[in-house]
Amino acid sequence: MQNQYLNENKDRFLTELFELLRIPSISADSAYKKDIISAAQYISEKLTKAGADKVEICETAGNPIVYGEKIIDPSLPTVLVYGHYDVQPAVPLELWDTPPFEPTIRKTSVHPDGAIFARGACDDKGQVYMHVKAFEMMMATQTLSCNVKFMIEGEEEVGSTNLGPFCIANKERLKADVVLISDTSIIGNDSPSIDCGLRGLSYVEVEVTGPNRDLHSGVYGGAVANPINILAKMIASMHDGNNHITIPGFYDAVQELSMAERDALNEAPFDLEAYKKDLAINDIWGEQGYNVLERTGIRPTLDCNGIWGGYIGEGAKTVLPSKAFAKISMRLVPNQVSHDITELFQKHFESIAPAGVKVVVKPHHGGEPVVTPIDSPAYLAAEKAMETTFGKKPIPTRGGGSIPIVALFERELGLKSVLMGFGLDSDALHSPNEHYGLFNYYKGIETIPFFYKYFAQK
Ligand code: BES
Ligand code: MN
Ligand code: MN
Repeated sequence: MQNQYLNENKDRFLTELFELLRIPSISADSAYKKDIISAAQYISEKLTKAGADKVEICETAGNPIVYGEKIIDPSLPTVLVYGHYDVQPAVPLELWDTPPFEPTIRKTSVHPDGAIFARGACDDKGQVYMHVKAFEMMMATQTLSCNVKFMIEGEEEVGSTNLGPFCIANKERLKADVVLISDTSIIGNDSPSIDCGLRGLSYVEVEVTGPNRDLHSGVYGGAVANPINILAKMIASMHDGNNHITIPGFYDAVQELSMAERDALNEAPFDLEAYKKDLAINDIWGEQGYNVLERTGIRPTLDCNGIWGGYIGEGAKTVLPSKAFAKISMRLVPNQVSHDITELFQKHFESIAPAGVKVVVKPHHGGEPVVTPIDSPAYLAAEKAMETTFGKKPIPTRGGGSIPIVALFERELGLKSVLMGFGLDSDALHSPNEHYGLFNYYKGIETIPFFYKYFAQK
């Protein structure tokens, strides 16, 4: 770490992040509403303290959005920093080695200098807080070289429902030259990368109803459709022997990449053995004709995220349940459209249901895929910033996850995004024992000011 201000304040930067991580701001569960508010307040206070103007906790129909800005000179470029302070639920709690909202530091094989274990450490509080601290640092050392606007939301993990309307209603206030987001991963701590694409999402919940009540599985079993058996079969039928998705029309809009583009994608280092070892799997799985990077980067998927019904308590209960349920996500790639794919799913799901059951498909949130340019001034600034601090030029990659609001920034605000994330895919995002490397946290704080510096020189 060459930066003196960072060196002198590094312990406080960590203590403050710990305070933020102790707030269980889970957006999926309304029981945590007061924690959502506390997290928003925490960020707004720190932004104010760092020197931001017009800091406001903007109410929405859902969770508030924290806004703040520093306009140093209207003729300079403006960076809109986006991130989220909400986190995923921490369940199953028993699988955490230390409690999710009591941050602790432990060493791991990928993080020999230590990592912060807590829900939200990487996704996205740790990465958001890097921006707050980098801003503090630039203000304190009078090195801020662009105008900056912060927009930190509290509903990313539940589909950003109210951020779209907020953007549309605040077009003037959000005017900027680029959106800077740290909510993605790098390949490794010694191989920096920048995601230049994110997948879209269609998310549905399905309900299969058989008989009008739970039945004795001996008295009725074999003569009445069991909704769990049927649902399992319906889900299984949605992949063929080559693991292609069988929904008619599903691939129609998919943009096939040229061999040259695929080759470029495969320049990213990838160690299949290490991948399998990390996940304790003997083999990988997926669509024939594509490798792991392609399957997660440029190909669409269909996954069951949860399935339930019938008796799951202790011991045995012989029951033929009346209903079965599942949550299903589809990751989308250019040029699939979330709404269209949800419709195709619904039509197909209804068409394959046998006459003995009724099905209901309930669409949840969705989002469109995005590809961001790798020749824009903002991308080049991020590339140069990372090259400066990592000592290696970052590789452009495609992220498998989704940040649905990125497509909306493009459509409604006319703004491209730069996905300068610092996490690792192995940091257990959304899983028990989520963590964020100390190396990554400080590297982010160190890198962000270089982005501003190079972007101002564009
Ligand atoms: N930060 C993630 C997305 C991500 C992670 C992108 C790693 C690339 C690499 C984000 O918080 C997230 O989890 N998004 C959700 C979508 C949302 C609609 C719930 C996702 O991808 O499941
Ligand atoms: Mn995130
Ligand atoms: Mn997430």
